[in-house]
Amino acid sequence: MQQEALAEIAAAGDLDALQQVKTKYVGKKGLITQQLGSLGGLAPEERKSRGAEINVVRQAVQGALDKREALLKRAALDAKLQGEALDVTLPGLGLPSGGLHPINRVYSDLIGIFTRLGYEVAEGPEVEEEHYNFGALNIPWYHPARELQDTFWLKDGPDGSSEPGVPRRLLRTHTSNMQIRYMVEHEPPLKMVSRGKVYRYEATDATHEAMFHQLEGLVVGEGISMADLKGTIAEMARGLYGAGAKVRFQPSYYPFVEPGADFAVWWENPRGESKWLELGGCGMVHPHVFKAVDDLREAAGKERVYEGLTGFAFGLGPERIAMLKYGIPDIRYFYANDPRVMRQFRGEL
Ligand code: PHE
Repeated sequence: MQQEALAEIAAAGDLDALQQVKTKYVGKKGLITQQLGSLGGLAPEERKSRGAEINVVRQAVQGALDKREALLKRAALDAKLQGEALDVTLPGLGLPSGGLHPINRVYSDLIGIFTRLGYEVAEGPEVEEEHYNFGALNIPWYHPARELQDTFWLKDGPDGSSEPGVPRRLLRTHTSNMQIRYMVEHEPPLKMVSRGKVYRYEATDATHEAMFHQLEGLVVGEGISMADLKGTIAEMARGLYGAGAKVRFQPSYYPFVEPGADFAVWWENPRGESKWLELGGCGMVHPHVFKAVDDLREAAGKERVYEGLTGFAFGLGPERIAMLKYGIPDIRYFYANDPRVMRQFRGEL
């Protein structure tokens, strides 16, 4: 039996097979265990010599089992390590690099231009109180821009209404809220630009999105004039489109500026086409805005410092610039997260 057992042990190809052999010979009901168990029925002298004999066999078999087990375990481990081997000298997977979103590229250009001119960069809330988006900007309650079809209002109260005495909130419709917030916090003279998302409750099409971006600019000080505004917009146009960039101003109306204007730059694309690109609105800060700011400052325990000063403000949309610069025909491509569009901006920093 010893020979058989040793042969089976040597033939066991893996740990499972070895376990079976082990059970067969030295398990609880194994052949050798049974023989040991049957010793009780023998005469004492015979029991002693037979017992010694079986024990020799048992020890030989157990020893062979242990050795084989150690060997198979070792082999299993080697195989596992072999399978998991990592060749660190193989070339890597070559992950594609990311890139800045075209809107962020345009923002970087714009903010670079204005920080070089000494402007501070400010950020403010997209969820805004009605007063900062409209009232303080001289946009009266009956102004059509406040109407439901233009503005996303927040449902603050349980029934969708606002609580009495609690300001109504909305998603800001422009970044001009930052004119107010910045002046309440800072003393003049000041030069500030602010970037961010704005929201309008409109049907979307190739040139309209319900969410888009603006860059707001504000300059306030003593004797700031329309000439400063025009010079600043021209400087921005040169920064964007080169030394020969032409700018055009046309009278326009925004309640928070007087006089107000729209500005455009003469734009030539690489294919030789050219046209006026309407970039945004601007104007001299309306005295009502300075008064509203001083009222807010006073309510916050601060000095009234703006009435009597002059300043200019402007606002523009980077989407317009990016669409022309990169030849993107539909504003909705910016936010659809279509890899076929965004892939084209890989590595662009
Ligand atoms: N807030 C205006 C808009 O959204 C743009 C603007 C900003 C106009 C500042 C004048 C001054 O269209």
